[in-house]
Amino acid sequence: MFNVMQVARQLKSAVLADPERFYTNETGAWVTGLPTPQEIRVSTGREPFWINLGYWRDVERVDETNCERVGELFMAAQAQMAHLLARTARLGERDSVLDCGFGYADQDILWAETYRPARIVGVNVTPKQVDIGRERLRLTGLDGVVKLELGSATQLPFGAGEFDVVFALESAMHFRTRGDFLREAFRVLRPGGRLVMADMCQKTDRESGAGLRRRLRHRYWRGRIAFPEANVWTTQRYVSELRHAGFQLARLDSIASDVYPAVNTALAALRGMTAAERQPGSVTVAKVREDVRRARQMEFEQLQWLTLFNCDEYAVVYAEKP
Ligand SMILES: C[S@@+](CC[C@H](N)C(=O)[O-])C[C@H]1O[C@@H](n2cnc3c(N)ncnc32)[C@H](O)[C@@H]1O
Repeated sequence: MFNVMQVARQLKSAVLADPERFYTNETGAWVTGLPTPQEIRVSTGREPFWINLGYWRDVERVDETNCERVGELFMAAQAQMAHLLARTARLGERDSVLDCGFGYADQDILWAETYRPARIVGVNVTPKQVDIGRERLRLTGLDGVVKLELGSATQLPFGAGEFDVVFALESAMHFRTRGDFLREAFRVLRPGGRLVMADMCQKTDRESGAGLRRRLRHRYWRGRIAFPEANVWTTQRYVSELRHAGFQLARLDSIASDVYPAVNTALAALRGMTAAERQPGSVTVAKVREDVRRARQMEFEQLQWLTLFNCDEYAVVYAEKP
């Protein structure tokens, strides 16, 4: 039935484009079997709650034969995204790290345990994620190395030159604005410090040629995921904004083909398997396999991140403070 209240709520979310609201109320269970934000309970601190699209180059991708294992496969790809950023930053034991938009702190646990930087400070605007992240660090005994703060990446509560590395793992598209964050990241990095991000944008301008209806549609869907219009950048604009903020050696390395097609298929499996798990009988595994097969056959232009958000690029961003 047409639900007026629900439509009104969705329109409000689209207009507000507020990440805290999005991550508190609207993100569902990203991985089958895992809880929604309201249902999250921490027990060991090690149960993963990643919220990124995954880097699928070197891991098993979801297909018709393995869609029952979508949860496990998705989480492996999501962890790979954190490893990719760590390798790009040449993360090492002497580094003092600032992590902007840490989700439930999965990446901080992974970086602290695998790369052993001297310290990690995280900043996040979503209070529930900060609370859960802190609880996980306490349980895993990493709270001496990783400190998590409630705050915005666009107004960092730190002095100039405090960090060797600043990370933003699939979070900067939410910042209001990404440009303000670049200036803040530049300020808090020491000379020679590295900024490393995983972020979405456009290979070339996909906006100006589009008709009004399409532009409104993309605007609506971007608002729904708290992606402000000020952050809709082409690759070229991205590099020039980095330079304008003072960075050198700025580059974007495309990983779009190792992100969008695979996650599109994973989400088809996830939707089906979650429905099958939560409402037994509502969907058969045969139907999920069929949906997964169809998702795998989609052209690049048919993928969700293009049709809804008009983003055809997903890149690892790298820049240094001179
Ligand atoms: C797509 S999630 C990525 C989470 C995490 N990096 C991961 O991979 O699991 C985006 C994150 O950015 C955070 N965020 C959004 N706007 C922010 C801001 N202005 N400052 C700091 N964090 C922000 C959200 O709360 C969320 O944790």
